[in-house]
Amino acid sequence: MKTTLGLLCYLLICITVEATNQIPQQEYIVYLGDLPKNGVPLSSLHTNLLQVALGSNVLDSIIHSYKRSFNGFVAKLTKEEMTRLSEMDDVVSVFPNGNTELHTTRSWDFMGFSQQVNRALPVESDLIIGVLDTGIWPESDSFKDDGFGPPPAKWKGTCQSSANFTCNKKIIGAKYYKNSGIFDKLDVQSPRDTNGHGTHTASTAAGNIVSNASLYGAGRGIARGGVPSARIAVYKVCWEGGCPYADILAAFDDAIADGVDIISLSVGGRFPRNYFEDPIAIAAFHAMRKGILTSNSAGNNGPSLLSVSNYSPWSLSVAASTIDRKFLTKVQLGNNKVYEGVSINTFSDLTDFYPLVYGGNVKNRTLNISYLDPSYCDPGTLDAELVKGKIVFCELISNIGEAPFLAGAVGTVMRDSRSTDVARSYPLPAAHFGLTDGTTIFEYVNTTSNPIARILKSNEGNDTFAPYVASFSSRGPNPITNHLLSPDISAPGVDILAAWSQTAGLTSIEEDTRRSPYHIISGTSMACPHATAAAAYVKSFHPSWTPGALKSALMTTAFPMSVDSNPEGELAYGAGHINPLKAVDPGLVYDIGELDYIEFLCGEGYADKLLRLITSDNSSSCSNVTKEAVWDLNLPSFGIGGVPFKPFTQSFTRTVTNVGNPSSTYKSKITAPQGLKIQVEPSELSFSSQGQKLSFVLKVEGVMARSRLSASLVWDNGVNQARSPIVVYPTS
Ligand SMILES: *[C@@H]1O[C@H](CO)[C@@H](O)[C@H](O)[C@H]1NC(C)=O
Ligand SMILES: *[C@@H]1O[C@H](CO)[C@@H](O)[C@H](O)[C@H]1NC(C)=O
Ligand SMILES: *[C@@H]1O[C@H](CO)[C@@H](O)[C@H](O)[C@H]1NC(C)=O
Ligand SMILES: *[C@@H]1O[C@H](CO)[C@@H](O)[C@H](O)[C@H]1NC(C)=O
Ligand SMILES: *[C@@H]1O[C@H](CO)[C@@H](O)[C@H](O)[C@H]1NC(C)=O
Ligand SMILES: *[C@@H]1O[C@H](CO)[C@@H](O)[C@H](O)[C@H]1NC(C)=O
Ligand SMILES: *[C@@H]1O[C@H](CO)[C@@H](O)[C@H](O)[C@H]1NC(C)=O
Ligand SMILES: *[C@@H]1O[C@H](CO)[C@@H](O)[C@H](O)[C@H]1NC(C)=O
Repeated sequence: MKTTLGLLCYLLICITVEATNQIPQQEYIVYLGDLPKNGVPLSSLHTNLLQVALGSNVLDSIIHSYKRSFNGFVAKLTKEEMTRLSEMDDVVSVFPNGNTELHTTRSWDFMGFSQQVNRALPVESDLIIGVLDTGIWPESDSFKDDGFGPPPAKWKGTCQSSANFTCNKKIIGAKYYKNSGIFDKLDVQSPRDTNGHGTHTASTAAGNIVSNASLYGAGRGIARGGVPSARIAVYKVCWEGGCPYADILAAFDDAIADGVDIISLSVGGRFPRNYFEDPIAIAAFHAMRKGILTSNSAGNNGPSLLSVSNYSPWSLSVAASTIDRKFLTKVQLGNNKVYEGVSINTFSDLTDFYPLVYGGNVKNRTLNISYLDPSYCDPGTLDAELVKGKIVFCELISNIGEAPFLAGAVGTVMRDSRSTDVARSYPLPAAHFGLTDGTTIFEYVNTTSNPIARILKSNEGNDTFAPYVASFSSRGPNPITNHLLSPDISAPGVDILAAWSQTAGLTSIEEDTRRSPYHIISGTSMACPHATAAAAYVKSFHPSWTPGALKSALMTTAFPMSVDSNPEGELAYGAGHINPLKAVDPGLVYDIGELDYIEFLCGEGYADKLLRLITSDNSSSCSNVTKEAVWDLNLPSFGIGGVPFKPFTQSFTRTVTNVGNPSSTYKSKITAPQGLKIQVEPSELSFSSQGQKLSFVLKVEGVMARSRLSASLVWDNGVNQARSPIVVYPTS
């Protein structure tokens, strides 16, 4: 198990292997595209289809039918049956059901979005944020419904209430999804969140304004969501064993039909899949057709390139960056030297000095498993008698403090070559150091006859380099369409304070019995709901804007981020850091409609048959689309992937819609590094009415370098600046 993010990894993959008696069967998702227009009852259609394909009694095979927002079902099939089905005319794709993984409140103030910003009330209070996650803790102060009116009239969802779970006027709907019917002993069969993650993301997006929130004093301040007046609809799809694809699809099927305005999903698969074999991309496509933007976390598999996990161009993919608040923990050694490590240590100062021992020297004498290493403080490797009342020095932070804690140590100091950009919580006083200070401390332990140390409570420092993209945040470009940039944008995802579940611990260690109504955690999971809220905020001013227009407004108004502190540049942060205030008034938008995506898909080689199924439009045809439609997909970003040292010339056609002053003239401004020649034709756009659309061609010429080249285009009318990244990068 890879524990790169402590708590977030609580729900890492753990595929259920079921016993089978005869021919091995597996759960497959059979995706059939759009709902048919002729109104055939879908359950019988699904049974008939299976019967034709398999020629046998199939009554028990269908586990779930998707029939409210798109067409498909989940069934138990053999490999052979799966192949037969996938060759049928009415079938878009068949893929195994699998698992995804889960990937304050200083953050809003940090981006200049104060509590006092102008709000479009009461529109905001009619917005419904659909949160697909681990459920919710409804009793949290962040979800009290004081002052809320009845749910908006458009709401068609339900609340799966029970003895101790009820919705209110803030949480207007809640439902759980578990197709397999198999529950872990820790799973609660209710929308109630026993993990914490879903409560955290929902409150970041739309939690109330709650003062004096903190994690045992750390991060104390006002906790608030980006759109505190908006309503929350909860779809619990994540469980102890992960977030199964079949359940994510079932939740989307409902959410779209229930009338949510924005969908927030901080979950992703580990390996890239083609768009129509990726359930999240499939569902987000149907959401987009109904005018609903899906905001996704980019994934926590950075910093390697091409690691982004949600990249379909019709959804928003959000990277995680730091804020200026940093949690620092001082360790004082017996020689009086003080070193500052990174962690969230809410335990009181260790007033006395305690003996400091090296893990490798306090090995568990009764343990005989040779691959476990006490110097890394692997579970069970420390000797309780030898560490009692001592501070243990461990290599690597992947041990999450479990071994020293369970062995009875008073604290732990860790050395790790990985980045120290994230502060984690541990079950005992702890500080994490990088290699430099970590090695100095090790040498002190190693060469002193009676080494001693004390660990102080964390203090809040000011990170003047913020914002920069966290090392864990997945990088682009889009692994399926290399010429598209992904992630799209960055938002706060490091050390974020938000509401927490009261049955969930603060670490994944069961014996750590601390509970807190607010917790500080990190991940692109935390960045995603910031972007969700920003999109909702923009939508509250512009209710009719399409998902493409919302995405464009967020991207073209983003704060530019510095390539100096982000070596992967736009492949880490996309258009830059989210700026909700400015996104309300972008001046221009690069709008994208369903047909534009269809043309893009044609260019990507998807066949007419598939496109007809997903749109249920028999006139859909790729015959009038050129192969290279990717260059003209109307996104507010420009990417060119290619082979190093190869000269290239690439033109992009874009259309911008005037959403600002009726009459205004925009001038293009190009910033380009040496080696790139960029031209815009026409270089000026003169609008005379709102809603008017004008097109331009951007031409980029140069030689592909060995590393990324970053440029930008800004359309400026003196009031509004719509900025787009232009990025050229090697893809082999
Ligand atoms: C909810 O009720 C169930 C059954 O009555 C109980 O087992 C569970 O502990 C309750 N959970 C909470 C959080 O109150
Ligand atoms: C804030 O909360 C703490 C407990 O976490 C409490 O001791 C303190 O009195 C509270 N302050 C205010 C102003 O409510
Ligand atoms: C960090 O410093 C900047 C500049 O002095 C200041 O504006 C900001 O409020 C500080 N942040 C915190 C968390 O104290
Ligand atoms: C090591 O552990 C195994 C099982 O856990 C046990 O059978 C074996 O006797 C142990 N060996 C020693 C040397 O303690
Ligand atoms: C030491 O190892 C034994 C045998 O595996 C185990 O039972 C015990 O819990 C370990 N001690 C600690 C403190 O982890
Ligand atoms: C110091 O480190 C060396 C080399 O890693 C090791 O052989 C020695 O036992 C260590 N001494 C102490 C006191 O830990
Ligand atoms: C689309 O074409 C298929 C066969 O090619 C036909 O069965 C179906 O009824 C048509 N749908 C519509 C809406 O025309
Ligand atoms: C192709 O052209 C036809 C006829 O103009 C139109 O109906 C159809 O939507 C177009 N298809 C695409 C994918 O643009």
